[in-house]
Amino acid sequence: MKLWGGRFETGPSEVFEQFSGSLHFDKRLLDADVRGSQAFARALERAGILSTAEREQIVAAFDAICEESRQPGFFQDATDEDVHTLVIRKLKEKAGAVADKIHTGRSRNEQVSLDTRLWLRGVCDYVQALLVDFLSTLLDLGEKYPDAVIPGYTHLRRAQAVLWPHYLLAYFEMFQRDHQRFGYARRAANRMPLGSGALAGSGFQLDRQAIARDLDFEDITANSMDVSADRDFALDFLYAASTTMLHLSRLAEDWILYSSEEFRWLELGDGVTSGSSLMPQKKNPDSLELIRGKCGRVIGALNSLMFTMKGLPMTYNRDMQEDKEPLFEAADQLIACLEMAREVAATAVLNPHAPLNDARESWVVATDLAEALARTGTPFHQAHKLVGKLVLESVKEGKEPEDWDADSLQQFAPEFTPEIAAMLARLLDPKEGMKSREIHGGTGPQHVQAMLQSRRALLRTNLK
Ligand code: ARG
Repeated sequence: MKLWGGRFETGPSEVFEQFSGSLHFDKRLLDADVRGSQAFARALERAGILSTAEREQIVAAFDAICEESRQPGFFQDATDEDVHTLVIRKLKEKAGAVADKIHTGRSRNEQVSLDTRLWLRGVCDYVQALLVDFLSTLLDLGEKYPDAVIPGYTHLRRAQAVLWPHYLLAYFEMFQRDHQRFGYARRAANRMPLGSGALAGSGFQLDRQAIARDLDFEDITANSMDVSADRDFALDFLYAASTTMLHLSRLAEDWILYSSEEFRWLELGDGVTSGSSLMPQKKNPDSLELIRGKCGRVIGALNSLMFTMKGLPMTYNRDMQEDKEPLFEAADQLIACLEMAREVAATAVLNPHAPLNDARESWVVATDLAEALARTGTPFHQAHKLVGKLVLESVKEGKEPEDWDADSLQQFAPEFTPEIAAMLARLLDPKEGMKSREIHGGTGPQHVQAMLQSRRALLRTNLK
């Protein structure tokens, strides 16, 4: 069955039908298509185009289609052009002649926009719930080791000591912003397009606000040409998905490193790692590697739709049918990665001694020393230079911070008076310097505790 054909003398060629058909992927929109069509039937009733009996018959037939679609093999033999065509064919089978009225003043251009918006709304809700779950697991992992010290890195060189939960809370902020981005993407999708017709606005006096209320939309779209031409709402979702994947990929990379034999900080659960077919000793972080790898696919989906949309003339063009596969692909990969990441975080075990030792054997305390000197009145530039010399000397002689004490520091430089040397000696322990960072946003232990609590409280409100 076709939703067009009157103007043609011959039907489409087999090659063209194969080439242009989208049912094999847009069948995922069936539920949305049916819900939207039922609401449209009610709108047609309000506009006096369908009688109450006709509307009832159509709505019931749509329900039956939904139910039937759950049966295995439902899509197998369907050769319809797209999901919208399939649904209408089924409607005709079930409701007979009255089905011919359902497209009164409705175009597939607005229908595909409506269906995609409905589907995306649900995905945004689901992804936000997964993010809340994942964030809760990250907080658990921070709360398990509230005092663990790790060297923080810049340039992948040990930089300054931070608390383990402070590091995890950095990811909390990123994923919380991602959560907000899905809120934005949801709002962008949450505009009701029906009534726009193909591009010029419906020729029937449909109560668009009533359709919006029926389908739980926040508002209606403002311009019919915009509706036919717009895929911004899909791009907003893909951007939110890409940013989330990007954050997941960075976390994955960190943990691949941190669980390596070079770091030995983290032990990944047996359940999320795999062995080697040849090397019996191997325990590989495949779950994290795949998360890192799948990030590329999702960013690819964003790029794919960006390129599809670039330079398209107003309004609808069939090119736009190419929006769905990247959308579905991005949603599937993102959901799978969030579920996987949650399990990795839930089963990871920190070995706090390893990062503490790494912090102790390196000069991550150098900044603490320089800042302490500056607090005694030494200009920071001078303090930086003095500590730099101390580090250079230590590096040359193979000394670690703990090889120094107040006496040897006092002998090192005339600026190091007995009081100053005693203060510096105390700061050779990375746990000490952190106490000077009780600034909002810093790794001061009390502040980090407070942040763990505040973020936990935020999660209890579902990040609203
Ligand atoms: N299947 C199409 C799409 O996904 C919607 C149909 C509109 N087709 C058309 N030739 N106007 O974009």
